[in-house]
Amino acid sequence: MPNSKLQAKEIRFMSRPRGGPSPENVAVVTVDLPDLQPGEVLVRNSFFSIDPYMRGRMNEGKSYILPFALGKALDGAAVGQVVQSRDAGFPPSAWVLSFCGWRDYFVAQASQLRVIDATQAPPSAYLGVLGATGLTAWVGLNDVAKIKQNETVFISAAAGAVGSVACQLAKLRGCQVVASAGSAAKVAFLKNQLQVDCAFNYRESDPLRQLEIAAPDGLHVYFDNTAGPQLEAALACMRNHGRIVMCGAISSYNAPAPGPQNLHQVIIRRLRLQGLLVADHLHRMPAFLAEMVPLLRAGKVLHQETVLHGIEKAPGAFISLLQPGDAHIGKLVIQV
Ligand SMILES: NC(=O)c1ccc[n+]([C@@H]2O[C@H](COP(=O)([O-])OP(=O)(O)OC[C@H]3O[C@@H](n4cnc5c(N)ncnc54)[C@H](OP(=O)(O)O)[C@@H]3O)[C@@H](O)[C@H]2O)c1
Repeated sequence: MPNSKLQAKEIRFMSRPRGGPSPENVAVVTVDLPDLQPGEVLVRNSFFSIDPYMRGRMNEGKSYILPFALGKALDGAAVGQVVQSRDAGFPPSAWVLSFCGWRDYFVAQASQLRVIDATQAPPSAYLGVLGATGLTAWVGLNDVAKIKQNETVFISAAAGAVGSVACQLAKLRGCQVVASAGSAAKVAFLKNQLQVDCAFNYRESDPLRQLEIAAPDGLHVYFDNTAGPQLEAALACMRNHGRIVMCGAISSYNAPAPGPQNLHQVIIRRLRLQGLLVADHLHRMPAFLAEMVPLLRAGKVLHQETVLHGIEKAPGAFISLLQPGDAHIGKLVIQV
């Protein structure tokens, strides 16, 4: 089954950014694909995911995941369709999830792929509301914060991939949801589409003042996607024995910043702060999907995504994702 004439476009990592990433850190390259060997599958990507954690992988040094290698294609979650296959488990046209994003075609071992059910939901949903970001929100609320009905939950970066699912799940659990985001359009989305109880623009108003107004009796839970000034504001508004899910710290990914000045509130209020890495919770995927697919199909959870068209859009989209107030709402994906 020769496909040596088939070429693929990939985005390669060329240099490590200092501060914010720039277009010069990557290059779009055309490569020849190898002939298929037994057990291998040729896939055409349809969508791939753009995620904030990728900024951390651009740095050198030990972390929970290997740094991106210079001169190699970037990678990340992607969904696509099998074009040719030398593995019986992956017939042509099957939809598959892989970690081979940032390219249009690729050849992989069958073991690197997972079949997804595209009759249950649009394939791109497996990168967002039914994928790692949805699972992050679900695990963060259920397993880490252990939210209960009638609790007040504050969620930052609330109009994004993790935040928008967290807002919806917390509302479905009967919580009061206070949400923050970086633009008027996102605040309108949170109020009108996600029906949160209160939403504010953290760039145009003081988060501490907003939280004091929205939650006069204090916060039971803070789902922290940003760290920085919003974490400091939340610490000052937590109820005794409140829980903070340390999910993300996007305010410091491009420029590390000192921690909150009021960390002693953890002691005064007897708070529990717990870090969350979704990779530790992949065994929860079946339970997560068992709840989320019916919710999605019943229209009780919204599959909100921003789709940018063309692989060349990926570097700019990634650079923008790391900026406060960036334009995308829900999960950001590239349609190849
Ligand atoms: N722990 C885990 O396993 C795990 C898994 C997935 C994601 N995360 C983390 O969860 C957070 C959200 O990820 P996501 O995939 O859902 O991304 P996202 O929210 O869809 O996109 C990132 C958003 O962060 C906001 N932002 C950018 N710079 C900021 C700054 N300086 N201060 C405050 N907000 C800023 C922007 O929205 P605004 O317009 O609101 O500013 C941007 O749209 C990230 O911190 C990410 O690293 C963690």
